[in-house]
Amino acid sequence: MIKRYLLLSIAILCCTSFAFSQKRIGYEKPGDQEKRLAWWTNDRFGMFIHWGLYALPARHEWVKKYEKLTNEDYQKYFEQFNPDLYNPKEWAKAAKAAGMKYAVITTKHHEGFCMFDSKFTDYKATNTPAKRDLIKEWVEAFRAEGLKVGFYYSLLDWHHPDFTVDKHHPQQPANNSDTAYARLNQGKDMSKYREYLHNQVRELLTNYGKIDIMWLDFSYPGKNGKGHDDWGSEELMKMMHKLQPGIIVDNRLDLDDYEDGFDFVTPEQVVVSDWPTVNGKKVAWETCQTFSGSWGYHRDEDSWKSPNQLLQLLIGSVSKGGNLLLNVGPTARGLFDYRAKDALGAMGEWMQLNSRSIYGCTQAPDEFKAPPGTMLTYNPATRKLYVHVLVWPFGKLVLPGFNQKVKYVQFLHDNSEIKYLGRENQGSNDLVLTLPVKKPLVEIPVIELTLR
Ligand code: GLC
Repeated sequence: MIKRYLLLSIAILCCTSFAFSQKRIGYEKPGDQEKRLAWWTNDRFGMFIHWGLYALPARHEWVKKYEKLTNEDYQKYFEQFNPDLYNPKEWAKAAKAAGMKYAVITTKHHEGFCMFDSKFTDYKATNTPAKRDLIKEWVEAFRAEGLKVGFYYSLLDWHHPDFTVDKHHPQQPANNSDTAYARLNQGKDMSKYREYLHNQVRELLTNYGKIDIMWLDFSYPGKNGKGHDDWGSEELMKMMHKLQPGIIVDNRLDLDDYEDGFDFVTPEQVVVSDWPTVNGKKVAWETCQTFSGSWGYHRDEDSWKSPNQLLQLLIGSVSKGGNLLLNVGPTARGLFDYRAKDALGAMGEWMQLNSRSIYGCTQAPDEFKAPPGTMLTYNPATRKLYVHVLVWPFGKLVLPGFNQKVKYVQFLHDNSEIKYLGRENQGSNDLVLTLPVKKPLVEIPVIELTLR
């Protein structure tokens, strides 16, 4: 009997220690995260906005690093910054019309310039010819359109005097030698920068009402890099959740060791092959993508994605259970340029008729396999399955194994019935859809299957 007890207690001990083997920062109860994320996993599609002084050189938001510019070299952009046509209400309308449900804006990028009015620096929009807090107007405009609002804030700061020179810094020594770093960093005190960073995050999460997303960017631990100790990430995380209990936070604070170190992962400029996992567990995820090869406004960059490619990014993300955060880099006058407007317009045209296959949708159950040239999404609440037809077939589409599982089929863009043929008689479970030979006038047609 005693032996049985002993064995039982050992077993219980093992289980509990296994269950708690991953560390927690502990700002909330396990299970609360899912509730905080619910709106976000439903909404699926957001707008990223990269806007700062780098809109003036208009040749990448990393221009300060790429061209090894000093603070003095960069000062001319601060003096010139005057976005006279900035009207965030128009931006918000454009985001909404494109089908986006939330937006995240750069409050400070790596260059260190603050688009908001901060007590802790003079390097901010209020001291430029813009003369005002650009974030305040932005938040109000986006909220007024019913969009959720998020702040991007750069952990890196290439302007702050105490931010030590590292491998990403514009003044990185050419030979990367320890002595050169030591010389450059003499008198710099990262603990002062850390305090500045915490103060600014506190301002952002105190002075602008409810903030839905905090998007901190980024960590690069290791030699001549920076990670959670430099940022004070654990403390930062606790503070953010205290100030904004509903907030959701990205995964770039170098807190992957903690179960509650992030809310979603952020594959950047890539198409994931499967639903991303961390420690073997599927996690919430969002891919961030540009229209072309730069986040900030880039006048001469010409690798703009087509509407079809952009839609594939959106549908492809949802088909693997993820979100898309699609970036606009407004000009230095405060406008979305014509290429961004065209791209957003095309997304909106498609979303207006097809958003039912995006909002509330996720990866299809395993029993449904996408036939070649298609992508599937699935709405678990309505039990509808969506087939996105990327390559238009000739007159019929075979959905292998779908036959017994479907009770009605229609196009999504016009709710017109699609007839289908079962092949049970020949011992097959394929569902054969009869499609018009001519592709409907929709960039990517969607077929809605009502499941039994
Ligand atoms: C990278 C880049 C940055 C951009 C961000 C968006 O981390 O440093 O320029 O803001 O990705 O995800």
